[in-house]
Amino acid sequence: MKNIHLIVIFCFLSISFGQAGNNIFSRSPYLQLATDSSIHIVWRTKTKMNPIIRFGKDMDELNGKIGSEFILERRTVDESDESINDALSLFDAPKGTRQFEAKISNLDSNSTYYYSVFDGEKRLTPKDSSYYFKTHPKPGTKSPLYFWVVGDSGTGGENQAKVHTAMRKYNQFKNLELDMYIHVGDMAYTSGTDGQFSERFFKMYEPTLRNTVCWAAMGNHEGKTSKGEDGIGPYYDAYICPKAAEAGGLPSGKEAYYSLDYGKVHFIVLDSHDLDRRPTGHMAQWLKADIEKTKAEWLIAYFHHPPYTKGSHDSDKEQQLIEMREHIMPILESGGVDIVFTGHSHIYERSMLINGAYATPTVSEGVILDDGDGNPNGDGPYIKSAGLVPHNGTVQVVAGHGGTNVSRKGTMPIMRSIFVENGSVLVSISDNVLTGTMLNLDGLIRDTFAIKKEGTVIHSPIENPWNPVTGKKPIKKKSISRGIKVPPVAQMIIRKNSQWAYFLGTEDPPENWNMLAFNHSSWKKGESGFGFGDDDDRTVLESMKNKYTTLYLRRSFALPEGIDYKKIGLVVSYDDAFIAYLNGKEILRVGIESGNGGGARNISPHEAEKTFEYFPFDTNAIKALEGGVNILAIEGHNHEKKSSDFTIHPTLILKK
Ligand SMILES: [Fe+2]
Repeated sequence: MKNIHLIVIFCFLSISFGQAGNNIFSRSPYLQLATDSSIHIVWRTKTKMNPIIRFGKDMDELNGKIGSEFILERRTVDESDESINDALSLFDAPKGTRQFEAKISNLDSNSTYYYSVFDGEKRLTPKDSSYYFKTHPKPGTKSPLYFWVVGDSGTGGENQAKVHTAMRKYNQFKNLELDMYIHVGDMAYTSGTDGQFSERFFKMYEPTLRNTVCWAAMGNHEGKTSKGEDGIGPYYDAYICPKAAEAGGLPSGKEAYYSLDYGKVHFIVLDSHDLDRRPTGHMAQWLKADIEKTKAEWLIAYFHHPPYTKGSHDSDKEQQLIEMREHIMPILESGGVDIVFTGHSHIYERSMLINGAYATPTVSEGVILDDGDGNPNGDGPYIKSAGLVPHNGTVQVVAGHGGTNVSRKGTMPIMRSIFVENGSVLVSISDNVLTGTMLNLDGLIRDTFAIKKEGTVIHSPIENPWNPVTGKKPIKKKSISRGIKVPPVAQMIIRKNSQWAYFLGTEDPPENWNMLAFNHSSWKKGESGFGFGDDDDRTVLESMKNKYTTLYLRRSFALPEGIDYKKIGLVVSYDDAFIAYLNGKEILRVGIESGNGGGARNISPHEAEKTFEYFPFDTNAIKALEGGVNILAIEGHNHEKKSSDFTIHPTLILKK
């Protein structure tokens, strides 16, 4: 009997509290414009109240207080109400609506505070640890960042809800907490009216918005009722955007476009919908000046209309998309932008590492700097120089799959990963690595990519890049790759006549023989070069002729600090052929058509003639480099057992 009573009371309490919440707030409390020392809490009611915010670092002791005298109150314009000025009036909210905007200042940076909304002495939000806010770290300080990217979500329907729930479950499972929420536009279909904002944005995302600032870019659907030029409309009623550089960057003077800092990350938010997109326009001029000023190490830009897409829209054919590509992308890439998030096209498309793709139509020739999948567990992350270096490579992400119907018109040739399904993107930045994850509406990870920034990386466009239609690299005409003339040397990383560990190819070595972790202490040691005949070898392999054709070599090395990786290369004297591995990854194949070890096939003869050839490291080789100890492993091959000579003499150099 007692138990039944308790259950009844519990049900009654939870229902009555929920209803009380719904009755009081016509928009539940949400966060806006965070800086390293301040934040805004915004909510709406249908009636008058005496607004008070209490806050503190301890949920049980909300010591701080912001009283009504410091809380901006905005209302719907009532003909009988002459006291309200334009700046305080709401655009088309229901009659009687009051919007409260509480700014809390003088906060500690990089700190979590709990808060509650009060009407006088009456507490309106429950004592619940989900009512919190976090201030930004001080600009320029190192701090990890984790944020959510959503686009084209605002239907108020089931798929939008599933995408949101999938993100929340994933974060709960991984014990992750969002620092920011980025919306790339189209958050309130079909016209961004006040009512559509309430139902299809605020209600849908309420548990996330109460503790995470949504930094928005305006979509074309919001543009039906809100105007970027004057900053008036339901979109501008909903958001408090930093037009005066409150959160870093240069003042834009407009809420439609702005920038903000989070530690060492600089965000640029543009209005691609209804403002001048030309290089001479105010937005582009501000953008140039803002980028010049930033001292950040990461640059992230987002706006609604994608410069590259073949989803439900086509960037080769539509004006806003063409202009963002032709006019805005050159400015962003001159500033060293790392990643660009957009929406509008109802699809997920993620590019390879690109640069300079401004032509119409978009082609992949000459613009792809790395055609790998960017996956740390696949081809490896895209690598870039440390800091912001102009034209060092950009990843484009179209995330217009946040809730509305998805579709596809074709294949954008720069894309590496395309999914026609609802979902969102989670991004983490930790030190010098950015990782992006596309989570679909069922909570499945569909795409993972990363950008790693370290040292100096000089990229050049890849010939015949990977093709998203065939899913392969184009087949090149078979030719035997050979080295080039050895350039002037700045430094020998592995000298001639160095000591190597070696293993005779009378049998195959263990499968992991070329990996960093393999222990070669049982192998023989000898000075390079290795071989027989021709009188050009220090370690002479008398046993090789007529017995075996392969020799395996290993040597560790460490890179000098602060070098330009693009200047590293192998300088090798060889007869007849070889395959080189760096930390287990094949980086060079010379004179061997296929296979490796005992399975190597079609080995072409090549005489060493006491000369060396130079093989510069390509992007793949650079990506295989490790910061500390590296292992260079080489298998040298003779084209047949009865051959009269064999030589393998590898060195590693840094050219001038
Ligand atoms: Fe759109």
